[in-house]
Amino acid sequence: MNPLSPHLLPLGAATNSEGKLELHNVGFEELVQAYGTPLFVYDTDDIVDKVRRLVGAARWKVAYASKAFLSVALLNILKEFDILLDVASGGELAVARAAGFPGSRLIFHGNNKSSSELGDAISYGVGLIVVDSFNEIERLIETTVGSKQSVPVLVRVTPGVEAHTHEYIMTGQEDSKFGFSVSSGAANRAIETILEAENLKFMGIHAHIGSQIFLLESFRKEVEALAPLLRDYRPRVINLGGGIGVAYLNYEESGDFDIWAKTLTATLDELALDFDYEVIVEPGRAIVASSALTFYTVGTLKEVEGVRTYLAVDGGMSDNPRPVIYDSGYEAFLPRAVASDRDKNFRIVGKHCESGDVIIKDAFLPGDVVVGDVIATPVTGAYGYSMASNYNRVPRPPVVFVNSSGHRLAIRGENYDDLLRLEVY
Ligand SMILES: Cc1ncc(COP(=O)(O)O)c(C=O)c1O
Repeated sequence: MNPLSPHLLPLGAATNSEGKLELHNVGFEELVQAYGTPLFVYDTDDIVDKVRRLVGAARWKVAYASKAFLSVALLNILKEFDILLDVASGGELAVARAAGFPGSRLIFHGNNKSSSELGDAISYGVGLIVVDSFNEIERLIETTVGSKQSVPVLVRVTPGVEAHTHEYIMTGQEDSKFGFSVSSGAANRAIETILEAENLKFMGIHAHIGSQIFLLESFRKEVEALAPLLRDYRPRVINLGGGIGVAYLNYEESGDFDIWAKTLTATLDELALDFDYEVIVEPGRAIVASSALTFYTVGTLKEVEGVRTYLAVDGGMSDNPRPVIYDSGYEAFLPRAVASDRDKNFRIVGKHCESGDVIIKDAFLPGDVVVGDVIATPVTGAYGYSMASNYNRVPRPPVVFVNSSGHRLAIRGENYDDLLRLEVY
């Protein structure tokens, strides 16, 4: 009854003869012993497989949206592929620089970039800066005054498409902090301003309608909404953003890369644009989410008679804030008994001082789970570590990479010295 569906696990996951989880033949116990819990484990062969499939899905360029999960070790892998990188702050840019990710392959996003962030992006030779507001255009013009450089820019527009997803991850609607509205004419004015600016080079248009989108019709509407701008300004680059949905729960299916590609390219073809353009897409979640799992140790089991059983783990909202922010659902399982029936209901909670510190509201696990057991939550590779915090001064957990060559630390876990390093005594 109700075992974990294997499609939520990364490529290298397997169950050994004792029914225990292995990743590329490395037992989960070895990983937990070597690195402790909580622990993020990424199967990097799974990431590479997704990158290859996305790159091959259409004649387009794929930009990995690094906000989903960013580390130098990951970029060292990704830079060997024919992909671009979306960075959305000076900090993400700094990590890209540290990894030697070429500036020309970077796309710089953000709805409120500072002059210093813009200056850093220009001096690193960022391939495309996505302008998001009239203030930013002014800032960019000021930053480039007197320079001989011409800065390549995309204009982020809000196409007025309400993608069917959580309101906090919906970005293409009119009432949005992001971008220039198409329907009000703001997008046209932004493009005209850039065309007139001496040191800015208009390269094209960018739109991103949101995240966790399963309804392909939303992507079709996005392209259709851009049609007037495309016809008027004949951009060299059409960046359609990311957002393809990922399965987190047993009954969900991840979006199909080929069908997504076909939807976008076929809709563009229908517009019969009479100029050459390059299509860019920017998936984040789809590349890393299901490549990772989080391991936790069970510390407390508390039965509230007639109500529920609370199962508390050694992490929580500090390593995975998505359930708190978006009410996102996850599955959980016992890696010592992967295929076991999950017949008992638990509320899996963290160790933070908030009643809302819930990882899974209604989780099912085998009834014999005990204190000291390791549990795992699959599909935690996107917007988990990257949104992690030190709430309650809880150190951020380590991140480990596993592939067919073995396992290695990618980001070490924080210790109390790390937590104190900013204190001024
Ligand atoms: C501009 C932009 N591009 C791409 C993405 C990636 O979205 P996803 O991870 O859903 O593919 C985001 C996510 O917030 C975004 O804001």
